Amino acid sequence: MQKRSFTMEQMVSYCNQYGFIYQGSEIYGGLANTWDYGPLGTRLKNQIKDAWRYFFIQLRENSYELDADILMNPRVWEASGHLAGFTDPLLDCRECRTRHRADNLIQEYDASVDADRMTQEEMLAYIRQQKVPCPVCGKSNFTDIRQFNLMFETQRGATNDSASTIYLRPENAQGEYVNYLNVMRSMRAKLPFSIGQIGKAFRNEITPKNFTFRTIEFEQMEYQTFCRAGEDSDLYQYFKNYGKSFFEYLGLPAEKLRFHDHEKLAHYAKEACDIEYLFPFGWGEINGTHNRTDFDLRRHQEYSGRSMEYFDEVAREKFIPYIIESTYGVDRIVLAVLFEGLREETVNEKDTRIVLGIKPQLAPVKATILPLIRKRHAQKAMELYSSLRRHFMVQYDDAGSIGKRYRRGDAIGVPAAVTIDDDTLEKGTVTVRDRDTMQQQTLPAGELVSYLNKLIQ
Ligand code: GAP
Repeated sequence: MQKRSFTMEQMVSYCNQYGFIYQGSEIYGGLANTWDYGPLGTRLKNQIKDAWRYFFIQLRENSYELDADILMNPRVWEASGHLAGFTDPLLDCRECRTRHRADNLIQEYDASVDADRMTQEEMLAYIRQQKVPCPVCGKSNFTDIRQFNLMFETQRGATNDSASTIYLRPENAQGEYVNYLNVMRSMRAKLPFSIGQIGKAFRNEITPKNFTFRTIEFEQMEYQTFCRAGEDSDLYQYFKNYGKSFFEYLGLPAEKLRFHDHEKLAHYAKEACDIEYLFPFGWGEINGTHNRTDFDLRRHQEYSGRSMEYFDEVAREKFIPYIIESTYGVDRIVLAVLFEGLREETVNEKDTRIVLGIKPQLAPVKATILPLIRKRHAQKAMELYSSLRRHFMVQYDDAGSIGKRYRRGDAIGVPAAVTIDDDTLEKGTVTVRDRDTMQQQTLPAGELVSYLNKLIQ
């Protein structure tokens, strides 16, 4: 059987057609690089979040979930270093007035050059010497590089002065850090323990691209493990591997995942590594693991005046814990899961089908209930549909030929198609067709709940 994978352009149109992802504010012509999740995309995303909760909050000991506000006291961003250092090196094309990230310009001009390792001066010198062209107009006439802060600002209250400026969080992590004392006290947590959080983050990226891969509003699943200094490097290694096994659990194959150790580190990190997935546009980061040392808690202690020390009752000593962060971009994982699963298959000489071959537990809809002949089987099919709905997300489809209905389910990844026919009326059995093998089997209708439960476990 021949299989064809999807290009980025086909993915964007697939997501729109089948209700996974739409362009944001579409009826107003959109807002560049904002995307709205449709009914099926929302379910897929939620199930990825549920899988993360299972893997990180439920399976791991001493693990606590938090839901902190997006808006925080601006002092948090002074302490974290984001106000001073969370910047991109930008320059403008003097000819066509477009704005670009210097490192991206270089990387796109010559992929063998690692712009990550260059200083601002080195990047500018390279762009001028090589006469790197503007990707929009083709000329090479750029301004100097300026550092541009990525945080979105907004004003709180009626006044418009700098005293009222607050920020949309650019990462979730600080919510976990400023609540570290609260969680430790209220949960009687002992080191090592972890605080995880799922939530939105915002970055004023000037070069968002690749659909939902790089956007200005996105969702992160961040996980911070507080530990003693000395345990940090082992935990760092552990979380790199744990991240990879999480992705394999989601159905991303090992050969399309790789570690990318950072040489140039963020202002808070001692060691950092990404896990990258092989998208159609190349390798792209879907996770980061960072050894943030005691940088964040030490800074919060300094800026807030509150002690961030942990008291070890056995050793009778006080210290500021280290933090190992493992962070996941929800939108990028949704995209990776879609690319991994989506394909067009040649069924026979005359027929092709689109299949979203994702793991059944991530499928937005678990089963389609299909009355073979509407007039004769609809009532029984409706009864079954109503009872299955109490257990699973299922759908009912009675429009068109059975073959067309199978195809509609395949295209959105429904793992089981359940047909109701005369045998159901006479013997109480249903025919279940498997999405991937297209094989059919007969089951007593009463066994459907346990069959589907097994399928999605
Ligand atoms: N707290 C650390 C932190 O935020 P990061 O590597 O900047 O680290 C973490 O971001 C994850 O968030 C990335 O691995 C990526 O999956 C996702 N992410 C970052 N920027 C993004 C963007 N502009 N659009 C979509 N996802 C993004």
